[in-house]
Amino acid sequence: MEQPVALLDGVEKSYQMDDVQVPVLRKVDLVIRPGLFTVLLGPSGSGKTTLLNLLGCIDRPDKGDIQVAGQAIDRLSDDELSDFRGSHIGFVFQNFNLVPVLTAAENVEYPLVLAGMEPERRRRRVRRLLDAVGLADRANNRPGQLSGGQRQRVAIARALARKPRLVLADEPTANLDSQTGAAILALMRQMQEAFNISFVFSSHDHNLINAADDLIILRDGVIQSIKRKPSGAAASVAEDAGNTLS
Ligand SMILES: Nc1ncnc2c1ncn2[C@@H]1O[C@H](COP(=O)(O)OP(=O)(O)OP(=O)(O)O)[C@@H](O)[C@H]1O
Ligand SMILES: [Mg+2]
Repeated sequence: MEQPVALLDGVEKSYQMDDVQVPVLRKVDLVIRPGLFTVLLGPSGSGKTTLLNLLGCIDRPDKGDIQVAGQAIDRLSDDELSDFRGSHIGFVFQNFNLVPVLTAAENVEYPLVLAGMEPERRRRRVRRLLDAVGLADRANNRPGQLSGGQRQRVAIARALARKPRLVLADEPTANLDSQTGAAILALMRQMQEAFNISFVFSSHDHNLINAADDLIILRDGVIQSIKRKPSGAAASVAEDAGNTLS
């Protein structure tokens, strides 16, 4: 097998609430296969966002090891981790998190400015990305002048700006109607195939669950089951997911 894009080994995470430690993830072992759609499914509070934050190096585990793109996270200082995150990981949030005073093009350009990319190259990259998500004609609109689906497409373009290996998306279609959600899903699939990006989503959206190559079911901070589609075969991941949900 190709090297996993991420590995979790015995990962534990708890939060301090007043004077009690509340365990949120308990001994999570997980392999994220490269170049696929991995979906995290589980009831509210089961630890999906916490797990995404750990995968995204936004947070560190209390115990256990995490590797992303072959890099052991605990070997990096906070500054190194933040650089590593910028160059390897893209984020798409449920509420898009676009900067309201910047145009669509400036939002996509922002991570490239932070990365110190030279302006001409930056603008070319932004044009290509906005083209890829079908928003070339909305480059100068600010988020408030875009529809929800268009905002989400800007967020995807921004997440892809630095050509990350891994894109994490926390319920990326939750605020969209089902048709727009399906279009966003198709767009992400296209991006995944074009750039061989690995996507990890948390989602309750049946369209996304159906599209999962690997479906990870979390319950109370434990991985209850993992259903991996054998490569090249249309396994019945969706049916299993349906059973789990009902
Ligand atoms: N910063 C925090 N401080 C204390 N507890 C937290 C914190 N963040 C999350 N939790 C707790 O950790 C548990 C898991 O939260 P998490 O956000 O990972 O769940 P989730 O599966 O993403 O849920 P949802 O589907 O509602 O988004 C919850 O019980 C939550 O209350
Ligand atoms: Mg969540």
